[in-house]
Amino acid sequence: MKEQIEQISKNAKEEIANVKDVKELNDLKVKYLGKKGELTAVLRGMGALTPEERPIIGSLVNVVRDELEKLIEEREEQYKAEELTKKLEEEKIDITLPGTKIKTGSKHPVNRIIEEIEDLFVSMGYDVVDGPELETDEYCFERLNLPKGHPARDMQDSFYVSPEYLLRTQTSAVQARVMMANEEKTPIRVICPGKTYRRDDDATHSHQFGQVEGLVIDKNISLADLKGTLEIFVKKMLGENSKLRFRPSYFPFTEPSYEVDVSCFKCGGKGCNLCKQTGWIEVLGSGMVHPNVLKMNGYDPEKYTGFAFGTGLDRLAMFKYGITDIRYLYTNDVRFLKQFDRKD
Ligand code: DAH
Repeated sequence: MKEQIEQISKNAKEEIANVKDVKELNDLKVKYLGKKGELTAVLRGMGALTPEERPIIGSLVNVVRDELEKLIEEREEQYKAEELTKKLEEEKIDITLPGTKIKTGSKHPVNRIIEEIEDLFVSMGYDVVDGPELETDEYCFERLNLPKGHPARDMQDSFYVSPEYLLRTQTSAVQARVMMANEEKTPIRVICPGKTYRRDDDATHSHQFGQVEGLVIDKNISLADLKGTLEIFVKKMLGENSKLRFRPSYFPFTEPSYEVDVSCFKCGGKGCNLCKQTGWIEVLGSGMVHPNVLKMNGYDPEKYTGFAFGTGLDRLAMFKYGITDIRYLYTNDVRFLKQFDRKD
């Protein structure tokens, strides 16, 4: 029996040494060490041995089995390592090759302006609010003291989609919405940046443009509050050295009304082509909220006063970044937009 075991061991070792792949190795494992394997068969035949022989043969079988197991395991490890090396070789990447540059977008100059304005006004306690771009005639005009047939409606060539609905011509529409929603609660301190639309068709105007509206209502709000607020606004946006000039004007929703000019930031007020030799550039419409507007939108004009202002975002962006043609803002030429690629 001893010879039989030694023969098995010899054969197995030879076969393991000559094995060609993992499958063959697995087959050998079954052949020699499996339940029906050759070594196991030997153990089964041990009943025929004398009690003295049994431990000797038993331990021999164990030694051989351990040996074979170890050999098989070594080959298995070897195969695994070979496979890994092969995989690494096949999937090798050259980390010294230059990478593909990921193109990132940049903030549009008008969005930059909006963010700056929002940050400024939020720091002064204002809320940023929103309103619909498809607006009703009621909110865009009627509730702002512009009844049907009012001549000032002609100033704003509108896109009506039905007798009742139009694309809003001014963010002022949000004034009425905010007042109605607040139901005479005060204070109201809001700004509303957004898109507006008019049927302008000359080269310097776009049918769609951006505006920002401001509205403050409380007890004892005065013209001094309006002036102080706009001064901070304009200086922050266009430079601390800017001077402001309030020119009496007319808007149906404010009384008194002002157009606000800023000293030309190109020539400092001396006169140049940007300010058409006047030294001043018009930047804002503003005024004290008209008592009719307060009343129509649920605020008692005997108790409350307020101010409002509105300005064009495109113009502000053009002034601030020295953009000479409004069309650059809308044609989405990446060469133009890339210039605003600063991380700030
Ligand atoms: N809505 C006006 C426009 O589109 C601008 C404006 C003027 C807004 C005076 C105001 C204001 O809030 O008080 O031209």
